[in-house]
Amino acid sequence: MSATYRQQAPAKVNLFLHVTGKRDDGYHLLESLVCFTATGDVLSGELRDDDQITLSITGPMAAPLAQNDINENLVMQAAKLLQDTCAPKQGADLILDKRLPIASGIGGGSADAAAAIRLLCEMWKLDLDAHTLSRIALSLGADVPVCLHGKTCVMSGIGEEITELPDLPPVPIVLINPGKAVSTPEIFKARADEGFSPTGAWQGKQKFQSAASLADALSECGNDLTLPATGILPEICDVLNALAREDGCLLARMSGSGATCFGIYDTTSQAERAAHAIATQNPDWWISPTHILSEKTREQAEIGAAFPD
Ligand code: C5P
Repeated sequence: MSATYRQQAPAKVNLFLHVTGKRDDGYHLLESLVCFTATGDVLSGELRDDDQITLSITGPMAAPLAQNDINENLVMQAAKLLQDTCAPKQGADLILDKRLPIASGIGGGSADAAAAIRLLCEMWKLDLDAHTLSRIALSLGADVPVCLHGKTCVMSGIGEEITELPDLPPVPIVLINPGKAVSTPEIFKARADEGFSPTGAWQGKQKFQSAASLADALSECGNDLTLPATGILPEICDVLNALAREDGCLLARMSGSGATCFGIYDTTSQAERAAHAIATQNPDWWISPTHILSEKTREQAEIGAAFPD
């Protein structure tokens, strides 16, 4: 039996997201502080002797993807692109354990694509240079380069410019999605003429020691897509209010183009209590109490600890 390889696809959280301009091709210039969480999808794979690539999707969020053409899944697209670029001798049977909600502003598909690149580079023993990797990643989507980077950073340009930052502490965070997908292009279109934020909001090279100091620094920054997103999906306001109301919530914001929002909490037990209380009142929402991945917690995740369900 061939070995099983495995890669985590952690959820991406935009701790703030400023829209700073627009390119002639319609893509928006962004400035965003991005971190990753211990909640995520998991991609595993086995080598095949022929050159076929297969993908099956399991897990609690697999059902909404069942109608889609499997070849359109970003994992498949990433695999085919790597195969075309590198002509490996073998194929791969891939299994995506889909736990993150679909089209939800926390990277889902982009994180999966990045995990596919990492996994197949390992399985097929590819040694691609950083430039080729980021070109492949960007061609799959604006958020794929930052997910391939996988560590706290400021993302700018349309997503291709990445400035490394000191690690954040493993801050307790609760992710909530109201169970409705939103379309990223539609949200960007809805903000049309709202003007742009100035660049350089985050000079933060400083190391944060606590959830409170991080939340304090973030209080000046927001998510410029929140207004257009709440216009399209008003439930986002309910989610933000629910997070903010709970004891210990230091900051509540939307991630990416929504609809997932996050709350930063002072302590892990406050985050867990908040998640439990909100889940009791909103049984249809997807709710995940988790923490920001730091160097230490990332290592733990990579040595095979499964993500919590
Ligand atoms: O690259 P991705 O497929 O993730 O982007 C989806 C859509 O979101 C783009 O076609 C574009 O309309 C919008 N977008 C944007 N500016 C970005 C990222 C995405 O306008 N930086």
